[in-house]
Order: sequence, then structure tokens, then C-alpha cells
Amino acid sequence: MTKVITYGTFDLFHEGHYKLLERAKALGDYLIVGVTTEHFDEMRGKFNVIDPIMKRIENVKNTGLADMIIVEDHEGQKIEDIQKYGVDIFTLGSDWVGTFDYLKTFCKVVYLERTPNISSTLLRGSSFKVTKVGLVGTGRIAERFLAEARYASGLVVISAYNPDERSVELFRKDCAEYEITIEKENYEAFLHGVDAVYIASTHETHYDYAKAALNAGKHVLCEKPLAFTRKESEELYKLAASKNAVLMEAIKAAYCPGFQQLLNVVQSGKIGEIKDVEACFSRIARVHSRERTDARYGGAFLEYGGNALMPIIKILGKDYISVSFDSIDNELGTDDYTKIQIRYKDAMATAKVGMAIKSEGQLVVAGTKGYVIAQSPWWLTQKFDVRYEDEKLIEHYEPKFIGDGLRYEINEFLSKIRGVGEQSYKLTAGESIAITGIVEEFVKKRGII
Ligand code: CTP
Repeated sequence: MTKVITYGTFDLFHEGHYKLLERAKALGDYLIVGVTTEHFDEMRGKFNVIDPIMKRIENVKNTGLADMIIVEDHEGQKIEDIQKYGVDIFTLGSDWVGTFDYLKTFCKVVYLERTPNISSTLLRGSSFKVTKVGLVGTGRIAERFLAEARYASGLVVISAYNPDERSVELFRKDCAEYEITIEKENYEAFLHGVDAVYIASTHETHYDYAKAALNAGKHVLCEKPLAFTRKESEELYKLAASKNAVLMEAIKAAYCPGFQQLLNVVQSGKIGEIKDVEACFSRIARVHSRERTDARYGGAFLEYGGNALMPIIKILGKDYISVSFDSIDNELGTDDYTKIQIRYKDAMATAKVGMAIKSEGQLVVAGTKGYVIAQSPWWLTQKFDVRYEDEKLIEHYEPKFIGDGLRYEINEFLSKIRGVGEQSYKLTAGESIAITGIVEEFVKKRGII
């Protein structure tokens, strides 16, 4: 008996898939089909898969061509499967020519001609209209957004808004390769041309820009801090719900698969009850940067606070009892370095942020049975350990992380706009509001507002 194996996502099952399976089956007597999990697809940079795995498996099953269906969930699995099932022929479409030649050590490798003019990507494109995004603010982060947005299929950045002439000129120069219209005066007119905005302007403008965009029915992805007071933040989420618009706070680590895995491990009971979370985020900002020169809204806390507070709120929850701050200030009176102590009923946490002082950017979650440590930079979660009293006992995790992390956030935003996929559990409105609550305590204590 000749055994054949093939793999795929088989999203929005189409004729190209059917024809591939038909020819794969004809290569032998027994066909095994591997269907990828969402997690595996995300890890290999394939975002926006629409059909859940059970539906994709069902569709393959309904062809009647597969003798066995398996799930593909990790790199290197193909070699295992070929040996485990005694496979004679590995086959895939011609878009993969050469990629799997290394499997020739284990079995015959055959690339079958792809059916022209059809793919899941094309179907996804025609099932949803392209989301036109406008950038509010034209600083460094807006430039990074542009580069990473290329990895979201069905989203295109078409315009930018910034009344600041100097910033616009720099942006024009650095982003000449992109076709983007720039609006310097009329925010309403800018909003009119887009479906969604990414707000990456100065902190104090976030709330007003977000409110106006939501009022115009536009989806909003807003850099942190979303607002300066809990009330404002609550109001924005309510407004978004009433307008049927998506509102997401751009704390990118929250949307990364590696960080999700860390949360799962922390919450699995492995390390017992969680008693302490320590998160540090520091980055030495350029001397002339806005965060180091703005005497009112500059400083480490407003710049980076959201990053370090996010894991604390995710792990210990929204209901903290008290918060206190301690800072080292610079000559402008803004903070170069801030420690935030948060007390919960049965646990505590510390967040540390620095923009002119550098520290170890790690995340440590302490429990009654052990602890989780994510090495620096934990926010680009690429490795973490679970450690115990017995120091020889270490479980090491190395989740995959692609790009600079923004693409995960952008794809999450796009999925929410399309209304596909799961609920917004990665950073809920309640969690984002709780983070704003801590921002409020800080800005009030320091007389910023
Ligand atoms: N395939 C094919 N002809 C097509 C589309 C896909 O022969 N027009 C094959 C692929 O080469 C692969 C299998 O079908 O062997 C599963 O492909 P998959 O990646 O799931 O489908 P695509 O339509 O290529 O998906 P995407 O657009 O998301 O890459």
C-alpha cells in the first residue's frame, strides 16, 4: 500500500484545495491530510484564518478523499508524521517547490501544480472589504506601524493627519515609498476618508482624537495611555459600543502569542497561587526626544507605564486596593524612572519604567509553588522559564515571535473589525480601563491634570 501525506490550512475550502487532495489521493492508496491549528498558523506568520479548525477539518472530511486526518501544530512535525505513519510520498502544491526537499531523506517528495486564480487569501479579500486606515500622528511609531501593516492582508494605510509641519516633513521623507495623503488641518475631512484610525499622536491628544473618530463611527486603535482618567476611558469604550466600532488600546505585548502562552502557563496552577508580579520596561530615549523634552506630558511613566502595568492587571486582575509611586525626576520635573507599587488583597506587584535609566527588562511572576521568569525583553516574549524550589527543575519555553510585535496587534484589530475570531480577551475594555485608573492616580498626584 502506498501512503501519501499532505498538509494545509484549508481555510474557506475551495476548488484549489479539492483538486490538490484529489491528485494527492491518486498518487497512492491511502491519503493522510494534516490540518494546521490556529496557533501554528499564527506562529508561522499566517494571520486572519477565518474558519475554526473544526470547520476546516470537517470540510476536508466532506471531500471523502482523506483516509485519515491529523492536526499539525508544531514545526518539525512533518518528519515525525512521515516516520510514524510509514509515509511513502509527501506532496504539496507548487507554491512550495523546493521548501520541503529536505524530506527526501525520509520519503518521495512531489509538488503538484497549483490550481490557478484561486486561494484562501483571495477569498478572504473578497469576503471583506479592504479596511482603510489613517494614521493620527506621524512620529517614529507611526512609521513602524506602516512597515508592519504590510503583514495584515486586507488593511491598507491611506492617509495621515498631523498639524505639526516639521513632523510631517520628516515623515514624508522617511515614508516616501508609501502612497499616503497627508492632512494637516481638517481632522473631520481626514476621518471622512477612512474606516479606522491608529492614534499615535502625543499622549494628551489621544482622548480627543479617539472620541471624534468614534463619534464619526470609525474604528480606533489608540496608543497608550488611552486617556488620563478612568471616566474618559469608560466613556470611550461606551461610545465605541454604541457606534458598533472597535476600540483597542495599543499595548502590543498583550496581543503577542508568546505572551499569551506565558499567561496560560501562569494561570495553569503550575506555580500555585500568584502572590507577586514584577514587570520592568526601560528604554533610554534619545536626549532630544519628545518624552525627554516635554516638561508636562513627557517622562517614563506616561511613555512606558502601560507596558509594565499590562501584565500585572492581566495576571492579578482589575481590583487592586491601592497604588503608590516613587520617581527619580530630571531637571524638567518629569520622571526619568518610576516604580509603581500595587497592593491587592492577597498579592502585590511592582512595575518599573525608565527612559533615562536602564534596568533589566524582565517579568517575574511569583507563586506559592514556583515562579515564571521571562527574560529581557519580556514584552517581545520569545523565551520564559518556569522554575521551582529545586533549582534543577526548569521548564523552558521558546515561543516564536515575528517582526517587532506590532503585526499581531494590527491583525487583532483587523479581526475585531471583521467580527471574526474570538472575543477581545487579550486586553479587555475592563483591563484597559483599570490601567487608565492607575494613569489617573499618577497624573493627579503629579498635578499634570
Ligand atoms: N492549493 C492549490 N491550488 C490553489 C490553492 C491551494 O493546489 N489554488 C494547495 C496548496 O498548494 C497546498 C494546499 O492546497 O498544498 C493547502 O493550501 P492552503 O495554504 O491551505 O491554501 P491557500 O489557498 O494557498 O491559502 P492561503 O491563500 O491562505 O495561503
